[in-house]
Amino acid sequence: MAKQFRIAPSILSANFAKLGQEITDVISSGADIIHFDVMDNHYVPNLTIGPLVCEAIRPLTDAIIDVHLMVKPVDRIIPDFAKAGASIITFHPEASEHIDRSLALIRQSGCKAGLVFNPATPLNLLDHVMDKVDMVLLMSVNPGFGGQSFIPETLNKLRAARQKIDAYTAKTGKEVWLEVDGGVKVDNIAEIASAGADTFVAGSAVYGAGKDSDPYRYDSIISAFRAELAKV
Ligand code: DX5
Ligand code: ZN
Repeated sequence: MAKQFRIAPSILSANFAKLGQEITDVISSGADIIHFDVMDNHYVPNLTIGPLVCEAIRPLTDAIIDVHLMVKPVDRIIPDFAKAGASIITFHPEASEHIDRSLALIRQSGCKAGLVFNPATPLNLLDHVMDKVDMVLLMSVNPGFGGQSFIPETLNKLRAARQKIDAYTAKTGKEVWLEVDGGVKVDNIAEIASAGADTFVAGSAVYGAGKDSDPYRYDSIISAFRAELAKV
């Protein structure tokens, strides 16, 4: 059976003056997930969007909204995003005093939970919380900005994360998604998929490639990603 891959455009690179249209277009073009980057100018040196924007876009699509928290602390804001319609909430372990508690809080709030690993953050933080994690997100850039270059060491880290996840799934039957975020382009997505990722965030590569001649602006770029993934 062909492996299931999910494409998650990051709205960080969308045109915020017409955000609703940008979201419906990317989903109509064949993307699977809306990746929603939340930055607080404290945990990362940039400031973006919060629960009000999540609530505003929720009625526009049935697609999964994947809220990537780059904020510190995390617990106070988790229920707000759950109420605003987030499907998945992920956070960076460095931003929580109590990782296990934050993961449990996300699940209690009715969302899927995920842990995000910065390029230098070791994967062993997963070892005692795997049962509370629905998605592992590996950063392939340092968080804070779109349009950065993919850090090649991420490929080794993806292979290690894939092994851990597969061992866990073999033991428990539980599915855990492996997402990658930062610098994903048409020319590297196949290599990234071969290293073990199944869910791909792409901001500038998708929103920078809109075409007026496409029915939904992003049909060509999403098809180009799918064509590369079909080679894996
Ligand atoms: C970076 C964000 C990413 C970013 C990816 O901190 O978490 O989601 O939007 O952008 P690209 O795909 O342009 O690297
Ligand atoms: Zn992100």
